[in-house]
Parts: sequence; C-alpha cells; structure tokens
Amino acid sequence: MIFGLKKILITGSNGLLGQKLIKLFLCKNDFEIFAVSRGENRLNNKKGYTYYSMDITKQDKLSDLVNKIKPKYIIHTAAMTNVDACELHKKECDLINVEMVSTLTEMSKRNNIHLIHISTDFIFDGEKNSVYTEKDKPNPISHYGLSKLKSENIILKSNIKYTILRTILVYGLVDNNERSNIVLWVKNSLENKKEITVVTDQFRMPTFADDLAESCFLAIENDATGIFNVSSNTLLSIYDIAIEVARAFNLDEIFIKPIKTSKLFLPAKRPPRTGFDLNKSIKLLKLPVYAFGDRLQIFKEQIAKYESTLSQN
Ligand SMILES: NC(=O)c1ccc[n+]([C@@H]2O[C@H](COP(=O)([O-])OP(=O)(O)OC[C@H]3O[C@@H](n4cnc5c(N)ncnc54)[C@H](OP(=O)(O)O)[C@@H]3O)[C@@H](O)[C@H]2O)c1
Repeated sequence: MIFGLKKILITGSNGLLGQKLIKLFLCKNDFEIFAVSRGENRLNNKKGYTYYSMDITKQDKLSDLVNKIKPKYIIHTAAMTNVDACELHKKECDLINVEMVSTLTEMSKRNNIHLIHISTDFIFDGEKNSVYTEKDKPNPISHYGLSKLKSENIILKSNIKYTILRTILVYGLVDNNERSNIVLWVKNSLENKKEITVVTDQFRMPTFADDLAESCFLAIENDATGIFNVSSNTLLSIYDIAIEVARAFNLDEIFIKPIKTSKLFLPAKRPPRTGFDLNKSIKLLKLPVYAFGDRLQIFKEQIAKYESTLSQN
C-alpha cells in the first residue's frame, strides 16, 4: 500500500475504455492503480500500475483479487461487448455481463467499495422520438441489451454506493487491440479503398472514449452517484457518421455505400434511434459536452501523434 493514495481497480483494462482509464488515472497523483483483464497486458505502457491477467468470470479468483487489493473504487468496464456474439452465445454473455456484476456488487457491499459500472443505450428499444433521459423506461430488444439491463438492476437493488454511466457507440485509439470501432473501421477501410456498406436507419450519439474515461473520473471527483448519460451531443445516422469521418480524414466518400439494417441480416436487433439527454450529467457529474465533429479533430491529432511515435521507433 502506498500511503495516502486511493486504490482503484479497473476491470477490462485491455479494452477501449479500460486503456483510456489507465492512461487517465496515471496522470492523476492521488490514485494507486490496479488493472485486470484477460490475457497479456496490451497497453504499450506497462509501468506505474499493477496488472493482473485473469478471467474474472472465475468468481473465486475475482473475490480473492478484490479482497487482496481492497480498493476504494472499482471501475467495471469488462464486458462481452459484441452484440451479435451475445445473441449467439447467450450463456457466455450472461456469465460475463450479469454474473460477473453480481460478484462485483457482492464484493463492493462487503468491502464498502464505490462501484462505477458502464452501461449502454442498448437497454432501450430506440423507438422514442426524442432523446432518452435517465428516467426513461428500458426495453431491450437484444440479448446484449437485456444482459446489461439485468446488471444495472442487480446494482440498483443492492444498496451499495454506485455510479452507472450509460454510453453510446464508443470510439477511440487503442494500443495493440484487434477490436475496431466505427471511426477506425471507416478510416482504415477508406484508406485501403475498400467499399463499406453503412446503415442509414440507425441513429446514434457517438462517444469519444477519452470523454467516457473522463466521466468515470468525474464520478469520483464529484462523488456523483446514480445513473448518468454520457455521450456527445450530436445525433447522426451511422451512415452520416461515416461521411463525417471521411471528410475529417480527407478520404474518398465514394466507398461508403448506404444500406438498410434489414438488409444486413444480423443476429441481434439494433435500436433504431438512441440519443441521450445530457442535462443531469452536465449538472451533477460536471460533464463537458462536445460535438462529434470537434472530437474527431482531436482524434485525428492523436492518430497523427501515435503514428509519428511508431515511425520514430
Ligand atoms: N464500445 C461501445 O460502443 C459501447 C457502447 C455502450 C456501452 N459500452 C460498454 O462500455 C464498457 C466498455 O466497453 P469497451 O468498448 O471498452 O469494451 P471492449 O473494448 O470490448 O473491452 C472490454 C474488455 O473486457 C475484457 N474482458 C471481457 N471478459 C473478460 C473476462 N472474463 N475477464 C477479464 N477481462 C474480460 C476484454 O478482454 P479481452 O480483450 O482479452 O477479450 C476487453 O479487453 C462495456 O461495459 C460496454 O458494455 C460500450
């Protein structure tokens, strides 16, 4: 134990949000950071925190880890996030997205831990004509959405100190991660002159992973508990998101072909339209809100910096 530092455990540290969280908390001076994820640590920077490679669906191992660290905070990002895989492998999805949360909630209760849990717009059916508030009634239409709603309900009923951050279509730069995201997929495909079909009938408010990580920090800093929406303030069709990416990176839009969701025959249903009302988060979480286009410019700068570091090595 490092005297005076607040211990924080970040699950899923190899993932998109997990990596951003490690980088963010390393810049803060008052945290001792512990990270857990499956397999080897995929972050380029392996210093300044303690990494555990572990399948945290193994309840005993997860409990032992939490008992050993006794963190003040857990930020739980680990999840089965591929919506179609969740539809096809429901048991595995429930084990990761529901049972794991049940264990963490139990551990949080026993050890007086503030649990910060990441949830999703997919708990909604996407039929509302306006943006969703934190009070709107969920109605998931996919197994992924259902599993995330079940996990929220476990936490809500538990009497622990919790923050649930619901978010939408997260994108950002990650080290050594094969899992792509909407912006990187469009950018990489267009750079390779590969044609992509993109849906015109699903609308989202895309979220920059750095902003989502910041919202986790703000939940701690402002001692904000309850449910909060976190996203950009720009509602676009996924097709229009792709067009904005092409323009931001000066790539040829000709390779982006419009398609209707029904023509893709995907295993899981998607909510047609999910945007968030961010007023509660602005007020209580002190969430700074950005437009998608502005964050794309920051993302572009990050990529340029990352690529120049790679070329120097
Ligand atoms: N990405 C989005 O668009 C989006 C939208 C709404 C909500 N969310 C929520 O935001 C959170 C973070 O998402 P993300 O995009 O950062 O996810 P991600 O990139 O898929 O990362 C999740 C991480 O969890 C790890 N993990 C999964 N099962 C594990 C297990 N049994 N033991 C240990 N580690 C395990 C994975 O490890 P491996 O890499 O080794 O498999 C992965 O690195 C999730 O709760 C997700 O539901 C995401």
